[in-house]
Amino acid sequence: MTIPFMEPFRIKVVEKVKMTTRAEREAALTKAHLNLFNIPAEDVYIDLLTDSGTNAMSDEQWAGMMRGDESYAGAKSYYHFEKAVQEILGFEFVLPTHQGRAAEGMLFATLVKKGQSVPNNRHFDTTQANLFVLGANPVDFTVPEAEDSTIDLPFKGNMDLEKLQEFIQTVGAENIPLGMLTITNNSAAGQPVSMDNIRQTAEIYHSYGIPFFLDACRFSENAWFIKIRDPKYTDTPVKDIVLEMCSYADGCTMSAKKDAIVNIGGFIAFRDPNLKQKIAQNLIVHEGFLTYGGLSGRDLEAIAVGMHEAVDEDYLNYREAHTRYLGKVLTEAGLPVYMPTGGHAVYVDGGKALPHIPKSQFPAVALGNALYLAGGVRTVEIGSLMFEHADPKTGEPVYAPLELLRFAIPRRVYTRSHLDYIAEAAQVCMEKPELIRGLRVKCAPPVLRHFMAQLEEV
Ligand code: F0G
Repeated sequence: MTIPFMEPFRIKVVEKVKMTTRAEREAALTKAHLNLFNIPAEDVYIDLLTDSGTNAMSDEQWAGMMRGDESYAGAKSYYHFEKAVQEILGFEFVLPTHQGRAAEGMLFATLVKKGQSVPNNRHFDTTQANLFVLGANPVDFTVPEAEDSTIDLPFKGNMDLEKLQEFIQTVGAENIPLGMLTITNNSAAGQPVSMDNIRQTAEIYHSYGIPFFLDACRFSENAWFIKIRDPKYTDTPVKDIVLEMCSYADGCTMSAKKDAIVNIGGFIAFRDPNLKQKIAQNLIVHEGFLTYGGLSGRDLEAIAVGMHEAVDEDYLNYREAHTRYLGKVLTEAGLPVYMPTGGHAVYVDGGKALPHIPKSQFPAVALGNALYLAGGVRTVEIGSLMFEHADPKTGEPVYAPLELLRFAIPRRVYTRSHLDYIAEAAQVCMEKPELIRGLRVKCAPPVLRHFMAQLEEV
């Protein structure tokens, strides 16, 4: 076979999308104060803002939705969901939440106190924000290779083990209520974490008595990368790789909107029976009763089916090749693509694409806006608009290590023609990149400003 990938499914339902003109897109972007988050989805032709909750569900998931049991307490669907999580991840206890950030919020509110620190390879924005609002200190130790978008290494999402150990010794284990590891490392270009690194991270945390939680949003993509990039695992079924990854952890937080291939949902899973009691009260106050946690029975049913579909190797083989193909055509279109491509997204080095725009003027946001104007393609910046903060000691701005533009790919949604179209739009932008101008913030809230910022051209 010479074709780049084959979809292991066929299309049964389609959704009409509106075709827009450049003039219409210009009007929409102006009205959105140059922030793609403010554009109505109807005015987007191909939406790569996120892979979260934007997935196409399978016939089996829709059938599960019909079987959803909507009982308030002890619904059948909850037990299906619980069994799927136990079987796939191997954690005994599971509490549903309405999405990933609620799982983080519940876990952190239970374990983390003001002034304490939580290490991670790299926190996602909402995970970081959940800690900031508690007055805690999220700290990131991704390996330095992640900061170089050109070196092609298999596991650039890894934790820097030496830095982690040094940090724990400096602040003291008593000030670290839990340690995390994000698989795959979304804020570091969606790069995977190796099995050795997961195990060694666990060993370090555990040697200091620190509970270890995975941010497991993209657990099956991470497992697939272990299978195809670590020769020790070539012949190991993905299901076993997932179980081994989780075996090193005390629990996980999960956004089912990613690798459970649904549109809404999340959970916290763990081994410690005492933790259930501790989280329960908070969960009931904020999310809902323990057997639905802010979801309907049909959502739980769709997650139960999706957890199994996520570890289907034909699906994962297609998923990785599909994403890699977008990386290839974007490279051919002249964009500096972060190497290697991740599982759920292609990341483009916006700083390199538009070297005339300094970090303080958000080159990746400017590139994303140009791409929207060129073709109605919506992407998202993972750079300094998202992560810039003031140095606590000097007050000077600390910028994101890389100004990335993320092309996140909804699962089972876009065909190869869509990917080729995206590359053509990118090529249009790269014909005269010097015409693309930097941006400044007109107004924005202090936390998670990228969602609501209003911008203007410099
Ligand atoms: N952790 C990671 C690594 C994530 O990527 C996300 C969400 C979350 C936690 C929070 O989950 O959205 O269900 O509350 N990431 C989405 C994204 C929003 O676009 O990458 P959530």
